[in-house]
Amino acid sequence: MNYKISLLENKISESLEELGFEKTSVTLNPSNRPELGDYQYNGIMPLAKKNNQNPVELAEKLVALLKDYPELKDVSVAGPGFINLTFSDKFLLDFINESNENIDINYKQDINKTIFLDYGGPNVAKVLHVGHLRSANIGEALKRLCKAVGCKTISDVHLGDWGRPMGMVILEIKTRHPELPYFKDDYNGEDVKFNITNEDLLELYPIATTKAKENENIMEEARKINYELQNKHKGYYALWQKLVDVSVKVVKKIYQDLNVSFDLWEGESDNFEYMTEMFEYLYSKNIIEESDGAKVIHVKKETDKKEMPPLILIKSNGAVSYEATDLAAIWERTHNFKLDEIWYMTDKRQELHFTQVFRAAYKSAIAKPELQLIFNGFGTMNGPDGKPFKTRDGGVMPLADLLDMVTEECEKRLSENVTENRNNIARTIAIAAIKYADLLPFRTTDYNFDIEKFTDLNGKTGTYLLYSTIRMKSLLTKAEENNLHPATMSILKESERKIILTMLDLKRIIKRSYENYSLNEICEYLYKITNLYNNFYGENHIITEENKELQTSWLTLTKVIYDNNCKLLNILGINIPEKM
Ligand code: ARG
Repeated sequence: MNYKISLLENKISESLEELGFEKTSVTLNPSNRPELGDYQYNGIMPLAKKNNQNPVELAEKLVALLKDYPELKDVSVAGPGFINLTFSDKFLLDFINESNENIDINYKQDINKTIFLDYGGPNVAKVLHVGHLRSANIGEALKRLCKAVGCKTISDVHLGDWGRPMGMVILEIKTRHPELPYFKDDYNGEDVKFNITNEDLLELYPIATTKAKENENIMEEARKINYELQNKHKGYYALWQKLVDVSVKVVKKIYQDLNVSFDLWEGESDNFEYMTEMFEYLYSKNIIEESDGAKVIHVKKETDKKEMPPLILIKSNGAVSYEATDLAAIWERTHNFKLDEIWYMTDKRQELHFTQVFRAAYKSAIAKPELQLIFNGFGTMNGPDGKPFKTRDGGVMPLADLLDMVTEECEKRLSENVTENRNNIARTIAIAAIKYADLLPFRTTDYNFDIEKFTDLNGKTGTYLLYSTIRMKSLLTKAEENNLHPATMSILKESERKIILTMLDLKRIIKRSYENYSLNEICEYLYKITNLYNNFYGENHIITEENKELQTSWLTLTKVIYDNNCKLLNILGINIPEKM
């Protein structure tokens, strides 16, 4: 809770002690009837009941002790024993002035953990789609939120760079270019002049996988190549590295546009390096069992209501599974880092996979009980018709096309005053629009893509927030040019009061967002405070105001709200353009 509010909570707790009660922890909440007070305390009724006292009488005794407290303007009893508190002007002004000096006091919580975040999850040679977009947006924002509350973070893109599809793609290249040195028995690792682009790969991947699915011989051949690749066959391995490089370069560019970055660029292939070590350990623990020719770990619990199949480590055809890779990733991460938690951000349809992996990790003690493995699944972004997002010809919508489409729409709406850099600015706005729309619903909720709605300058949108925040900035710049500076706030009127009360609630919003692993409340909050500020802005002529004390107060408030908006937009991973 906000340190200012906890000041009051402590005061109430002390007063209750004065009335003869044991030390109780007190929680104040924003009032749901603002006409009666700013915050309310609902703890009197249960306390009175527990101690066989009359709640209204007890509430009145407490109110008598709080009456002269300078941080409160008013305190009163309502109904069966609710206590309503109205803050004094001094309390609210102090809060804004302290925030002006150190905006971080509104974010930091006493959480001191090291959190490993696994998000992004792009696949080599395969097109990035909207599911990858959601993983990147949510993961990046959660990482920034973790940092804001005081945690250390380690982020990993967890590249899908291993497994059978790699064998299929290499086989397709081999079929098309059998003359390449990679496929010769005497290939010795020399550099090969073979130009393959990401477009080539995107064209090749669906063909390669369809061929293998439709023809058992091709599938067998691909499996063999994959097996040799995993055993570091010189030619296949060198070609594979080239494919990874080509894909990663393109993916990095898109992530850069999206303001998404990672500490680690590990992939499934890196986890694979730990496979032998991990299997030795698992065998020594005696928890691997044979089942229909596969090697499995049983993860069912007595209490399970739903079916819980065993986790397959090695399939009956000898292939190492996606589950084994994720288990090896936990092995690797816990051996390399001292972690409190590992968070996974993927489509919620992968929940069973992660449930199995987590259970196997705890059962085998690869994960110690103190390590928290947390699955943060998310809902789907659907097309405007509510069905899974498709291109006009029915294919998967590539992420790059989606970004271009929204950028084009934003450029149309860009003011004529923006003459330079229009495309870059439109891109920044488009990304803000997409991210805000993506983070606004609760994490697990599905939502529909609606380009008109997402880019609307007057709605609950990223564009509206950017526009308003840029306007705050230009007001502050104009003030500076006129030699007017924010300093301390000393005058408070009704509309400012509402803004400051909303600011006071931020710390609680941040805490809830962190605890729910969801950015939706921060998105709602940004909209609320920006709206309140815009109403205030509309009512007052800040630059021409003659009362200097009032003018300084307004500028100070503007600066705090501006800094706060920048900070919150930054947590969402949204950049603010110079103008729009
Ligand atoms: N590459 C996977 C996909 O595209 C996502 C990876 C998710 N992370 C993980 N540790 N399995 O579906």
